[in-house]
Amino acid sequence: VSSLKGKDLLTLLDYSSEEVQDLIYLSSQLKKITKAGKCPRLLEGKTLGMIFEKHSTRTRISFEVGMNQLGGKAMFMHSRDMQIGRGEPISDTGHVLSGYLDAVMIRANSHEMVKELADHASIPVINGLTDLYHPCQALADLETIAENKGELKGLKIAYVGDGNNVAHSLVVAAAHVGIDIVVATPVGYEPDAEIIAKAQKIAKENGSLVTVTTDPIAAVKNADAIYADVWTSMGQEEETAKRLVDFKDYQINDALVAHAKPDYMFLHCLPAHREEEVATSVIDGPNSYIFEQAENRLHAQKAVLASILA
Ligand code: CP
Ligand code: NVA
Repeated sequence: VSSLKGKDLLTLLDYSSEEVQDLIYLSSQLKKITKAGKCPRLLEGKTLGMIFEKHSTRTRISFEVGMNQLGGKAMFMHSRDMQIGRGEPISDTGHVLSGYLDAVMIRANSHEMVKELADHASIPVINGLTDLYHPCQALADLETIAENKGELKGLKIAYVGDGNNVAHSLVVAAAHVGIDIVVATPVGYEPDAEIIAKAQKIAKENGSLVTVTTDPIAAVKNADAIYADVWTSMGQEEETAKRLVDFKDYQINDALVAHAKPDYMFLHCLPAHREEEVATSVIDGPNSYIFEQAENRLHAQKAVLASILA
């Protein structure tokens, strides 16, 4: 992963499959070393800036603790407290931050804005969630599956729900590791066709398939992992009532998971809404790995930070 030094992490589309696989492996290794109390202080003297335009529990805390464990420091900034909240151009902000920080992580409404920041910053920019992608989440997701299933290649993931940021990154990451992934969404909530086409190209090279359907049962059939995200993402709150209706046949419940392999893993990026996108019996049941998955965000962030900064 030394090839990643100085690189942005915006989508995982501009990473090679080998680089993605290495990051997942490194994350697992860092987890073991950290639990043994021996996390290497690879980022002594380095500072990560973190800009948030939206709420966060996992992303904020895992990046901050990850920097601490690697010997560096992280600085939290909400965009409304910065001059970007009053209209300072993101391009100027990128230039200015490059003079102070070693890397910047940003959670933003618009992926275009994050690209613009990356274009004008000379330091690496890490995407901590945009409208289109959540790459750091996908790394932790695949680490969780790898740690429990062993080999990733040849497995099948079913993503059921809204075809947006989390789904897009999961599809790209799955393609990089040779997992078959099926995305089942209601009509009108399909993933971005261009992103799917790019992921299909990557998947083909790794011998796997990326498919989109509106049929949740077909998606879940023989799946090794079933993945859910909220029906209403941050910023879409005014659509909540309509979405509750549109997604009602896409709940992950006992009837649906009966079509998966008996030892399927239930995954969710969190935060979750019990009895909306997932039945309580599933998310709090024996096949759920949500808290392990959330913990792995910490180790995946360290893998990313160490690779692009150390
Ligand atoms: N899954 C995730 O990104 O969680 P937060 O919104 O709490 O950061
Ligand atoms: N799709 C969700 C993910 C939150 C981690 C959102 O964008 O709000």
